[in-house]
Amino acid sequence: MQLSFAGLAALVVAAATTAVEAVKPNPSALMSANFGMIGRWGFNQASSMYTDDVTWEPSLYSFCQSTSYEVYHIGYVKAFRDANGYPGLHLGNHCYWPNNAFPNWKSDSETGFYNLNCPSVASDIALCQNMGKKVMISFSPNDFIGNTTADNGAVTAKQLWDLYLGGSSPYRPFGTVVLDGIDIHAWNNDPNSYSDMIKTLRALMDASPRTFWLSGSPRCDYPDWTLGPNNGNRTDRILTTAPNAFDFLTPWMTASPNICGFAGNNPSGFWTQLRVWNDLAASLGIPMFPGLPTWYVEAFDQAATGDYINSTVITNTTLVTQLKTLSQFRGVSLDDASYDRLNTPCIDTKLSYSHVWYRKLMNDSWTGCLSSGLEYSGKTLVGGGVSTTRRINTIQTSGSGYFRFAGQTSNTVLVALGLLAIGGLVF
Ligand SMILES: *[C@@H]1O[C@H](CO)[C@@H](O)[C@H](O)[C@H]1NC(C)=O
Ligand SMILES: *[C@@H]1O[C@H](CO)[C@@H](O)[C@H](O)[C@H]1NC(C)=O
Ligand SMILES: *[C@@H]1O[C@H](CO)[C@@H](O)[C@H](O)[C@H]1NC(C)=O
Ligand SMILES: *[C@@H]1O[C@H](CO)[C@@H](O)[C@H](O)[C@H]1NC(C)=O
Ligand SMILES: *[C@@H]1O[C@H](CO)[C@@H](O)[C@H](O)[C@H]1NC(C)=O
Repeated sequence: MQLSFAGLAALVVAAATTAVEAVKPNPSALMSANFGMIGRWGFNQASSMYTDDVTWEPSLYSFCQSTSYEVYHIGYVKAFRDANGYPGLHLGNHCYWPNNAFPNWKSDSETGFYNLNCPSVASDIALCQNMGKKVMISFSPNDFIGNTTADNGAVTAKQLWDLYLGGSSPYRPFGTVVLDGIDIHAWNNDPNSYSDMIKTLRALMDASPRTFWLSGSPRCDYPDWTLGPNNGNRTDRILTTAPNAFDFLTPWMTASPNICGFAGNNPSGFWTQLRVWNDLAASLGIPMFPGLPTWYVEAFDQAATGDYINSTVITNTTLVTQLKTLSQFRGVSLDDASYDRLNTPCIDTKLSYSHVWYRKLMNDSWTGCLSSGLEYSGKTLVGGGVSTTRRINTIQTSGSGYFRFAGQTSNTVLVALGLLAIGGLVF
């Protein structure tokens, strides 16, 4: 579908008025049971702790086969525009510059991220979709959208639609594979044009015969800076201007531990914030999946202490029962797959952390593993040890690990990324 700016603007207007509610997917179709799980894959966060590729994140399909995640948020899209004018992708060790560059793609020292050509990830996505999993791209740029003109947001929306969803382009990272939707994980404190971008995406989705999902991943402290709702002089936030754009919310209970870290300084804040998001989701009639880490991430020490909920708390306290009393709670969204795989609390089954969540979500009376395995919980390992020779305790800010595949990233961007990582992605 070719759309002019005027056409896009018309879509935005249509989205803001009637079309949005009319053709939204049915929230109950997101998961196969009352409760389910979302997993974040692609960023290979474990590479910030481990330098050897043995511990790096395996393929998407291997997770689809071995875990209970039914929805994947993959990514991230890390730049609004690369030097070629397309949104830039970060898929860690799975697809990276320059190995996966499109022919004649210009190198970019500004953002360090590129629109990439990822055929092996594409076939994994198709295999997972064949298993009934939903695979959504997560949009979380470091850079700013640039200016506040409505066209700018709409243009980005159309590009994302063409590259990942129902549109067409010679430069689709996953070729003919069509993803199931998009997640807005906008943590760069740039509200410019997000409303227009999301309204346009929604309108494009709703105009398609195929079902697409749009999720919002705000930070836990309500209202979220970028997504809203509006607060004081923060205007034009999407959760005020077109709240029905979203099909579900995954408020991240990880970003501001002093406000809402579960086991940290402020467990009451966890519940207070979650209830506010639940109330908002209830008013919109959409499900909510609190976002939680799969690991105590030492590199994110300042920001993440206490965010991690250990397996004992999940199995042997009333946590899950309490979560289920929240009307919109439909499960959890876990970040990320690479750490989940390394965190194996159940030695009898060698099951990873996400399985503990899944079993408890499915069965309130489940009391846990027969014998405990290797759980990395706080500063000490429970039940054994990960080889310390393979551990690195400092964040990688250049050359290897976390940013190994960021391409020819400029020092400025690396420093900014390092700060973001050290700050636990606070911004
Ligand atoms: C603002 O966005 C428009 C539309 O994409 C673009 O033409 C214009 O150059 C941008 N202006 C600035 C200052 O970036
Ligand atoms: C918005 O309000 C904050 C806090 O009151 C203030 O610091 C900021 O300057 C205001 N911004 C604008 C654009 O008015
Ligand atoms: C699990 O977390 C709880 C609550 O933070 C804590 O009291 C407990 O000591 C932790 N258990 C283990 C085995 O780390
Ligand atoms: C949980 O409680 C059960 C039953 O009381 C007990 O057997 C089990 O060891 C506990 N699990 C953990 C991880 O504390
Ligand atoms: C739920 O867990 C309990 C305790 O482990 C177990 O006895 C029961 O069989 C489980 N129920 C189902 C339906 O799996």
